Amino acid sequence: MVHLLETEKLTIRFGGLAAVNEVDLTVDHGETVGLIGPNGSGKTTFFNLLTGIYRPTEGSIRYAGENLVALPTFKIAKQGIARTFQNNRLFLNLSVLDNVLIGMHPHQDSNWFDAIFRRRYVEKEIEKGVEKGLELLSQFSEELASHCYQRAGDLPQADRRKVEICRALASNPKLLLLDEPSAGMSPAETEELMEDIRRVRQKVRGIGIIIIEHDMAVIREVADRVVVLNYGRKIAEGTFQEISSNELVLEAYLGREEKNAQA
Ligand SMILES: Nc1ncnc2c1ncn2[C@@H]1O[C@H](COP(=O)(O)OP(=O)(O)OP(=O)(O)O)[C@@H](O)[C@H]1O
Ligand SMILES: [Mg+2]
Repeated sequence: MVHLLETEKLTIRFGGLAAVNEVDLTVDHGETVGLIGPNGSGKTTFFNLLTGIYRPTEGSIRYAGENLVALPTFKIAKQGIARTFQNNRLFLNLSVLDNVLIGMHPHQDSNWFDAIFRRRYVEKEIEKGVEKGLELLSQFSEELASHCYQRAGDLPQADRRKVEICRALASNPKLLLLDEPSAGMSPAETEELMEDIRRVRQKVRGIGIIIIEHDMAVIREVADRVVVLNYGRKIAEGTFQEISSNELVLEAYLGREEKNAQA
């Protein structure tokens, strides 16, 4: 069977540092993979490789059977890979709805010619976009949808994260990459987030998700399989149960803590 995503020996070096080092990782349709590891272990860099922000030094990325390496970021987005960022990347001065509409860009095909000579076509496209944007927001909560004309910067952190996920979903992704979605959330907000992720999985059938998280409760709840990185290398892979009793994993986390304590 062709995996939705398959990386082989994926590697990037920054000078002497291999931030991601020979990582093999697969995601299947409908599967949620948790990507964990101590700070600086290469998780975000792995996403940057998948989305074409960085070009690998070595290794391959196959997505739905096709090679993604060397494709520009916008083409990768168009193929159906969407992400959220560790640090919120909303346009804070734009409305909630506008932020979601921006996510649809990879699939909108009207251009300046249409804007001048085929106004009706462009208006239709915008109308359809607004309808879909509102639908996405209301899937998360009616309240969020009712704030769609509010400035995104005026929303609390947890809601901004939801808007970011909506923006990612607006591009109809087949693979969704979430970089620490629960960062800065209260336990109650984190609970809600887990619900949201479950709902996305149900609604968008077949969607593959990679979720980077420091909150192990989230990983335990939502990940079908967990991959652990340490210093750029994959050191373990398995169910949450399996990796949480893995010696190498415990050492990776504890070792760093000891080092930090000594520093
Ligand atoms: N553009 C870059 N140039 C040089 N080094 C980089 C670059 N991007 C990342 N790194 C380094 O690669 C390593 C992995 O960083 P990365 O941000 O991927 O870690 P992470 O696992 O996401 O950590 P965190 O949990 O803190 O978010 C770090 O040592 C980082 O300093
Ligand atoms: Mg990171």
